[in-house]
Amino acid sequence: MTDNSPAQLVLDPKHPGFHDAEYIKRRQHFFDISRDCRLNKKELSFIEYTAEENAVWAHIYQKLELLQQQHAWSEYLKGKAALQLDSNHMPQLVELDKRIAATYGIRLVPAEGLLDTRDFHGLLSNGIMPCTQFIRHHAHPEYTPEPDAVHDVLGHLPPLMNKEYGEITRLIGKGVRGSQDDALWQWDKIYWFTIEYGLIEEQGEIKAFGAGLLSSYSELMHCFTDAVEKRPLSISEIVRTDYDPTQMQPILYVMPSLAELNKQLTDWISKLGLK
Ligand SMILES: [Fe+2]
Repeated sequence: MTDNSPAQLVLDPKHPGFHDAEYIKRRQHFFDISRDCRLNKKELSFIEYTAEENAVWAHIYQKLELLQQQHAWSEYLKGKAALQLDSNHMPQLVELDKRIAATYGIRLVPAEGLLDTRDFHGLLSNGIMPCTQFIRHHAHPEYTPEPDAVHDVLGHLPPLMNKEYGEITRLIGKGVRGSQDDALWQWDKIYWFTIEYGLIEEQGEIKAFGAGLLSSYSELMHCFTDAVEKRPLSISEIVRTDYDPTQMQPILYVMPSLAELNKQLTDWISKLGLK
């Protein structure tokens, strides 16, 4: 299978670590070992994290914990507890992979950074979740311009302990795999408004569902305010809605249940005539 993900580490000039030579050297190390492991199908290995990296993780983990307990959907909280994350130390993918695999078989592979859409969803459609193992710059612990271990581990991994949720990520992967390049934009929007920024209704209450909400202190505070327009889940409407990843989200979709999301995705895939 060809790989279209960037072969070089590229940090945006606005990245908080852009002028920090030590940080860039460390990121280059993570880039090299993660890409090598992903593309050459090597075994995951234990990483020696620095005291600074563990401190950034601990700061953001503890800040998010209270808000998540209050606002996260129930399967997220169950999955997070089952992952046995350490609030003071960076997570080890080699350990999380074993815990996730033991539930119903989803495996982890390290991601060196943001992957190409087809590479990312190609892995997900086969039950493999790409996951970063580096952390944001210590100067701005509440902010990251790219997915890092806080976003991936605290946002994406806990619900993957739930089989129904895992099936949804596979369905989206299937949609991406079956689509032509000029139709991929719709799957970006579907992924964004559900897996990244979706809300879900549970026992009459709206809860945070998406990884982008659950891994960001400010989004988690913001999404329950009246500044956010909450619309009922509709895939046909989502594909006509634009989003701006650099801003707080003004529009979010609320799914009544995972079963309804699964149904709408399945209907959308068959409407597009995808196999
Ligand atoms: Fe994400």
